[in-house]
Amino acid sequence: MRILILNGSPRGERSNTLKLAKAFAAGFPEETDIEIVCLKELEIKPCLGCFSCWTKTPGECVVKDDMQTLYPKIEAADIIIESFPLYFFGMSGAVKTMTDRCLPFMKTYLGTSDENGKSSFHQLRNPDMYNKKFVLISTCGYVQTAPMYPALLKQYDLICGEGNYTAILCSEGELFGYEGLAERQKNGYLADMTKAGAEFAANGKLSAKTLDKLLRPILSPGGFEAIVRSHWGGEKFPQI
Ligand SMILES: Cc1cc2nc3c(=O)[nH]c(=O)nc-3n(C[C@H](O)[C@H](O)[C@H](O)COP(=O)(O)O)c2cc1C
Repeated sequence: MRILILNGSPRGERSNTLKLAKAFAAGFPEETDIEIVCLKELEIKPCLGCFSCWTKTPGECVVKDDMQTLYPKIEAADIIIESFPLYFFGMSGAVKTMTDRCLPFMKTYLGTSDENGKSSFHQLRNPDMYNKKFVLISTCGYVQTAPMYPALLKQYDLICGEGNYTAILCSEGELFGYEGLAERQKNGYLADMTKAGAEFAANGKLSAKTLDKLLRPILSPGGFEAIVRSHWGGEKFPQI
């Protein structure tokens, strides 16, 4: 089993979200091959919009940069985990740029519509790629996930097809960057992520109960606010 973790945080190794993705992957059997790719360390240029990958060079991107080494990794992985912070209610820039460059994986669009809402609007060129599992792990800074994620989830419903991916969403994500604070609660959340990884490894999906547990805020709104205020350096920056 091969897992490819695509770390789309500009913080690289210091990413809050990556801590969760690593904890999730730790739940898989020991022999699992896990590779973490940090997108910010790659040179991934924006899609040119030339549609060469649909016409002159079907399935191949004409832009020669680090995507050329990432394409085979994506193709070879059994499970792809996209790990990224929520930025303005959507995916981070690195993930968006990389996603746009995945157009060569899609079949040439010929003007026909497939609007059943259950599968992606674009069909995959290689049918074997439908066997992959896709997991999205994201943290946000807000106290609750429900008001933050509707746009992102709609986008993934359209990209992957509804129900064809697993989304693990975590509120109060900044807590994972605050050392020495709320350690017991954070460790509890990370342990739940590892249990979720084991469940996913066994069943290829997560139960509604597990997903719901991971959606719950780590600290109460009051407790979170107190920590955030002191972390921003309340007394040093009275203007906030
Ligand atoms: C440019 C920017 C935009 C953000 N947008 C949101 C947002 O829309 N909603 C939210 O709850 N948090 C938002 N955040 C907070 C991050 O999602 C949060 O700090 C996250 O845990 C960072 O994860 P990382 O360490 O993996 O990068 C934003 C942060 C930045 C820097």
